[in-house]
Amino acid sequence: MKRIPPLQSLAISILAQTFGFGVSILVANFSGISGLLLSIVHGASAGCVAGFLRLSPTWVVVNMAMWPAAWLYKHAALPNQALLWLVLVLLLIYVPTYWTRVPFYPSSRRMYEAILEFLPQDQPFKFIDLGCGYGALVCYLAKQRPLGIFVGAELAPLPALIAWLRSRSYGSRVQITWGNFWKLPLSDYQVVYAFLAPDPMPQIEEKCAHEMKSGSTLLINSFPLSRPAQQQIDVPDERNCVLYYYRM
Ligand SMILES: C[S@@+](CC[C@H](N)C(=O)[O-])C[C@H]1O[C@@H](n2cnc3c(N)ncnc32)[C@H](O)[C@@H]1O
Repeated sequence: MKRIPPLQSLAISILAQTFGFGVSILVANFSGISGLLLSIVHGASAGCVAGFLRLSPTWVVVNMAMWPAAWLYKHAALPNQALLWLVLVLLLIYVPTYWTRVPFYPSSRRMYEAILEFLPQDQPFKFIDLGCGYGALVCYLAKQRPLGIFVGAELAPLPALIAWLRSRSYGSRVQITWGNFWKLPLSDYQVVYAFLAPDPMPQIEEKCAHEMKSGSTLLINSFPLSRPAQQQIDVPDERNCVLYYYRM
């Protein structure tokens, strides 16, 4: 699906919300319903318009949830700072997406299992997850492959913090770096994994070709490089992801 830029998504959302207002005024006049039920009607109509106009699932959810959430917030008598904290938490998760163009969506458990097949069982190796999110993948792999060292690099502050806290129980076998993976050299790693988005893939291809050692393994989830992969595994998860294996 073609990605709609943020400002255009915002403009479409305003349209969707205006439609939601129109529908809820009509419904209120004809049926007399009000309160939470009316804001759900508003959210559902705005969400339908957002979906119909091909906004991304995140924008559709925002359009749907905004009014019911505002109603709940107003009536739940939450402390004044609650909304501020919520906004701060969301910023700590999502602000880097504006620059990276790569939102967080996790690899599936079936993808974890497909990745495992490429990791040595009987010799030490180093693995890096470029954009490790909340660190679930590196921690899972560390449990399954005791001889490996697993590094996760993540730019979004809150996911990086959670990944780091998670990594504590693995000692030095799981290392989380808060920062931009473009700045990390890849020459130390026998296995590099990336689940990103179409935009950065040409740059990833160039970086890996320059920095990864000959004979090392590059695993790409869903967004292949321009050159043919040595192996391509169809992973039967909910998104029908494909794991591409490149020998460098
Ligand atoms: C699609 S998610 C994948 C998460 C995890 N690797 C997994 O497979 O479950 C991509 C992650 O990469 C992170 N990311 C994108 N660009 C980045 C960059 N330049 N440096 C560090 N992290 C980045 C995003 O914040 C997001 O959490």
